[in-house]
Amino acid sequence: MEKKLKKLSKKVNIFLNRYLSKFNSSELVVPMKYGLFPGGKKIRSKIIFDVGKIFRVKNKDLMFLAASVEAIHAYSLIHDDLPCMDDDNLRRGKPSTHIKFGESTAILAGNSLLTTAFEILSDKSFKVDDKIKSNLIHALSRCSGQIGIAGGQYLDLSYEKKKVSLQKILNMELKKTGKLFEFCFVSPLIVKKKIKNLSSFSKLGRDVGLLFQIVDDMIDCKSNTKSAGKKTKKDFKRGKATIISLLGYENAVKYAHKLKKNIFNKLKVHSNKANDLKETIEFIIERKK
Ligand code: IPE
Ligand code: IPE
Ligand code: MG
Ligand code: MG
Ligand code: MG
Repeated sequence: MEKKLKKLSKKVNIFLNRYLSKFNSSELVVPMKYGLFPGGKKIRSKIIFDVGKIFRVKNKDLMFLAASVEAIHAYSLIHDDLPCMDDDNLRRGKPSTHIKFGESTAILAGNSLLTTAFEILSDKSFKVDDKIKSNLIHALSRCSGQIGIAGGQYLDLSYEKKKVSLQKILNMELKKTGKLFEFCFVSPLIVKKKIKNLSSFSKLGRDVGLLFQIVDDMIDCKSNTKSAGKKTKKDFKRGKATIISLLGYENAVKYAHKLKKNIFNKLKVHSNKANDLKETIEFIIERKK
């Protein structure tokens, strides 16, 4: 799986680099590229290609989706590390963007990566119908804003050092992480106008995102900074409300496995066509970083 991810990562990075190199006249492109490259695991891109495979979506189209998602994801990480948020100085094995370039530049680079995502989806070279494009832009806006990443990040910060119910923690994790995964699951279907599958794939995407966040919380709890490429043991220090803080580590592991089983059951109808996607989900739960 690591090899497959590396190969895909290279391709997505080439696409994004080409895209941003059109704007080398802007000095802000430098911190934007710093936040994007070489970048992380590209799990979200992998899911887009796995789902795309089930529905036979063209790789060329999938690349636009993946690049837009990685731009949003990189923005969310730059802002997540800011002193006013998680206050982390290490990201993807190097100093966080605000450490390297200063806070105001990190905020602006993040903002510009967020808008870059929509620029990519609305680009002339993305050859899908305008109606499909507007549906994609609508879906990605929803997943990024107040009912998505931003709304979830708000809850994450407001729940620090508070005793919060399981329902509220799940809702927060679904928003801050689940919603972007939801976009990865539905965007290939939007391209192919597979309306019938939309609602089941939305739910699957949110659940895989939730699973991803629970494992991220486990990595924070048990892994080390060197292997994770970011500071670990911080959630406890900051009093983050997580499933681990509420139910304990062992129960969080059980919760994650139950969730995975549920997801796999729902994927049965797609038989062998979903093999790559299942392999990626397996990787999500087993990963150590
Ligand atoms: C980290 O995401 C932030 C979360 C939503 C948990 P990733 O673990 O996908 O980060 P990279 O892209 O690999 O660095
Ligand atoms: C971040 O969650 C979720 C985002 C939407 C950025 P975390 O705060 O747990 O992510 P890490 O652990 O810093 O990567
Ligand atoms: Mg955070
Ligand atoms: Mg963080
Ligand atoms: Mg974390």
